[in-house]
Amino acid sequence: MPELRNSQYRHLEVSRIAGSLGAEVEGVDLSRDLDDEVIGEIRQALLDNLVIFFRDQRLTPDRQLAFARRWGDIHLHPYMAGMDDYPEVLEIRKTPADKKNFGGSWHSDQMFTAKPAMGTMLYAKEVPSAGGDTLFTNQYLAYESLSEGMRAMLDPLKAVSRGDNFSSHDGKTRKEFYADKISMKVKDPGETQTTTTHPLIRTHPETGRRALYIGGHVHKLENMTEAESRPLIDFLMQHSTRPEFTCRFRWQSGSVAFWDNRCTQHFAINDYPAETRIMHRVTICGDTPF
Ligand code: SIN
Repeated sequence: MPELRNSQYRHLEVSRIAGSLGAEVEGVDLSRDLDDEVIGEIRQALLDNLVIFFRDQRLTPDRQLAFARRWGDIHLHPYMAGMDDYPEVLEIRKTPADKKNFGGSWHSDQMFTAKPAMGTMLYAKEVPSAGGDTLFTNQYLAYESLSEGMRAMLDPLKAVSRGDNFSSHDGKTRKEFYADKISMKVKDPGETQTTTTHPLIRTHPETGRRALYIGGHVHKLENMTEAESRPLIDFLMQHSTRPEFTCRFRWQSGSVAFWDNRCTQHFAINDYPAETRIMHRVTICGDTPF
């Protein structure tokens, strides 16, 4: 990660929270109509830090969508229903009645679609008194730290991702996995493509850096059987989530995280059985990975 000099920002204060990725950004009210220079600085902070965090924000769904649209069109989740009045906003809700949480395994958002989400903005409405943190990991470092021989072997490979990846859902469909365990609504994806093959190593379209593109939605490698693929997928998942590649964010009500799915994975920790956590999530459309 390049050394962050606050002097490169005129409008923002940017402070790294870990050695490999993640920074807190101060000096901006995301509920306002921000000018292009401020948006440009936020974009630079995101590209440099992969995931950025803002504290003490007050965002209505309308204002969160207005901010998200500065980055592109909104990406709709094929399986999870949005809010009744705001279908583009996914309310991630876990109450003491829910056994599972949404996003509770390492993944990159919607990588099973043809054009996966470029970025995700998550706004904390209500958080537990402790717990419910989110982990992030740097997939540039995951790729760059592999041996030359391994990188050469992986470079031409492609991975097949499935929205209903039974191996990450205890052998069940997403609907069965979540049934009675989560208060969020699972919907039918209809015509949306939910099984897709993408390069295992992708080039970030803005930074030009190469990153490992893997997550819990990957169920096999192209032109290989599941049994042949599994040991390599397991190794890459373990390798790419090594503690030294990660950061951990402690939420407060009003916090916003904005992450780049093209070079990170994330994991929502389910460790608050007796408490409630409510988040508003908006995802932004990305390109076809190359
Ligand atoms: C997700 O988008 O995977 C959920 C992340 C979280 O709730 O922390």
